[in-house]
Amino acid sequence: MFVKALIASLLVAFVCVQIADSLVCYTCTTPNDCKSPKKVTCTNAAANETSHNLEVYHQGVRNLTSTRFDCLALKYTWNNNVINQIHGCIHPNVGACSLSLKPAYGHYNKTHCLTCSGNKCNKNPAGKMSSSTLTIAASVLGLLLVKIFA
Ligand SMILES: *[C@@H]1O[C@H](CO)[C@@H](O)[C@H](O)[C@H]1NC(C)=O
Ligand SMILES: *[C@@H]1O[C@H](CO)[C@@H](O)[C@H](O)[C@H]1NC(C)=O
Ligand SMILES: *[C@@H]1O[C@H](CO)[C@@H](O)[C@H](O)[C@H]1NC(C)=O
Repeated sequence: MFVKALIASLLVAFVCVQIADSLVCYTCTTPNDCKSPKKVTCTNAAANETSHNLEVYHQGVRNLTSTRFDCLALKYTWNNNVINQIHGCIHPNVGACSLSLKPAYGHYNKTHCLTCSGNKCNKNPAGKMSSSTLTIAASVLGLLLVKIFA
């Protein structure tokens, strides 16, 4: 029993470390850029950068400091052209997908917006999202725990 409990807590610790460990997101700021997005490890600096990019088009982007981050994938079209695309690390509390556009950009259509947790979950091209690492990790852990304790 003791050994089982030990194994279980090691597993939990392992998964938690994986989650708490640095999140990696794809990052790019223009449609052209987003054809070959770079990867970035999420930090407050990286998330601040995304906030600044969002601030160009949106009102009410808050200045925040976070201890955990999400990835963002955002796409605007107008007349069937991709006008703007922002991928990157985001402060979860910015609420990136519910921000309203500045009046000057009100005619843009937000065709895609997603925030997710899990490494590289904001995969380019936008629209094709795999389930996040977090979900997979959680189900694997669940299965293992069931196996150990059954
Ligand atoms: C991010 O922005 C917040 C709010 O403006 C600021 O307090 C913090 O120092 C910034 N962090 C970095 C690493 O630039
Ligand atoms: C956030 O910080 C930037 C630069 O530091 C500043 O221009 C902006 O007004 C601040 N926004 C808010 C909502 O405090
Ligand atoms: C934006 O989307 C709406 C509905 O989806 C559509 O009717 C409209 O034509 C679009 N506007 C532009 C400028 O693409």
